[in-house]
Amino acid sequence: MLSVDDLDTPAILIDVDRAEANIARAQAHADRHGLKLRPHIKTHKLPYWAKKQIAAGAVGITCQKIGEAEVMADAGLTDIFLPYNIVGRAKLERLKALHGRVTLSVTADSMETFNGLAATFNDPGQPLQVLVECDTGMGRCGVQSASEAVALARRIDKAKGLAFGGLMTYPAAGRAAEAETWLADARNALAASGLACRRISSGGTPDMWRSSEASVVTEYRPGTYIYLDRYQVAKGVGSLDDCALTVLSTVVSHPTPTRAILDAGSKALSSDTLGLPDFGELLGIAGATVTSLSEEHGNVTLSGDARLHIGERVRIVPDHCCVVTNLFDEVHLITGERVLETLPVAARGRMG
Ligand SMILES: Cc1ncc(COP(=O)(O)O)c(C=O)c1O
Repeated sequence: MLSVDDLDTPAILIDVDRAEANIARAQAHADRHGLKLRPHIKTHKLPYWAKKQIAAGAVGITCQKIGEAEVMADAGLTDIFLPYNIVGRAKLERLKALHGRVTLSVTADSMETFNGLAATFNDPGQPLQVLVECDTGMGRCGVQSASEAVALARRIDKAKGLAFGGLMTYPAAGRAAEAETWLADARNALAASGLACRRISSGGTPDMWRSSEASVVTEYRPGTYIYLDRYQVAKGVGSLDDCALTVLSTVVSHPTPTRAILDAGSKALSSDTLGLPDFGELLGIAGATVTSLSEEHGNVTLSGDARLHIGERVRIVPDHCCVVTNLFDEVHLITGERVLETLPVAARGRMG
C-alpha cells in the first residue's frame, strides 16, 4: 500500500479520520437541535463524501452550480438543492433535464429569475420547488424585505409548474441573530398572506454551532465543516488538529535562514485568504507561515525555532480549503501515513 512518502508534490491529502469525525460532530449537533442537515458539496466536490454525509443522516445535498449537481446526480445522489438564481435558456434547459432525474429545489430573488423558471417548468404534476432567497445581511443575492419575499412567493405559488418551497439565506458570518429576526418577520408576513413556509434554509459553518431549538431555521447547509481550514480555526470552529485537508509540498529553496520556498504557490493554495493576513501554515512546525505567494512558489517565513531544509516535505493548512479543492485534479485519502485511495475531484471546474 502507498504511503504519503510515495506521493509527488504538491498534492492534496485528506485525513479520512478527521473528515469523518467532522461529519459525525455536525450531524450530532443538527440532530440534537432538530435541524435537517443538507451539506454543501462545494468544499469536497466528491460523490464519495456526499454519500458519506447522506449515510450519516443528511437529508440531501447542496450544490452551487448546475454542473456540480449534474455530477452528483450521475453518481447517484437523489435530493439536490441549488441555492442559485438560474438565468438563461441554456441553463434552464439543463435544469429541466435534472429535474426529471432527482428531487430538485432552487432559489429565486427576482421576477427575471422567476419568469425564466415559470416559462420552463409547466407540469403541475411535478412542480419545481422554488425557495425565495433573502438577503439577511450578507449583501449578496436576495430580496431586500419581507414584503418583497411575500410578493415573489405569491408569484411562485400561483405558477403552474412551480411550488413555493420556503425561504433561503446565506447569512453574513457572525450575524445569525440578525438573520433569525429577518426570517421570522418574513415567515410571519407569509403566514398573514396565507402562505405556509415549511422550509427555511440557512448556511455557513461557523454559525452552525450557534443554532438552537428556538431557531426559525429548519435546514442547515454547512460546507467547510467537513475539512475545516485556517479561517474556521480562526473563527473557533476547531483546532488545526481537526483540519482534514492539507497540501503536501516540498521545500525547493532556502535562500536565507528565515525564509524557505515551497513548490506550492497560488496555483495550489489560491490567493483567497478570507481576510487572514497570510496564506497558510505548516502543520506541526510552529512559527512557519506562508507569507506570500507567486504562481508556483510559496514563501515561508520562519520565526523562533522553526527550521526547514531543502527537500523536506511539509503539510500546509490553507486559509480556505474549498478553493484549494477546485485547483487539483485529484485528492489522496489518507489514514495516518497510509494512502487509502486516490479520487478524481469529480465536480471541480464545473463553473456553470
Ligand atoms: C449558499 C451557500 N450555502 C452554504 C455555504 C456553506 O458555507 P460554509 O462553507 O461556511 O459552511 C456557502 C458557502 O459559500 C454558500 O454560498
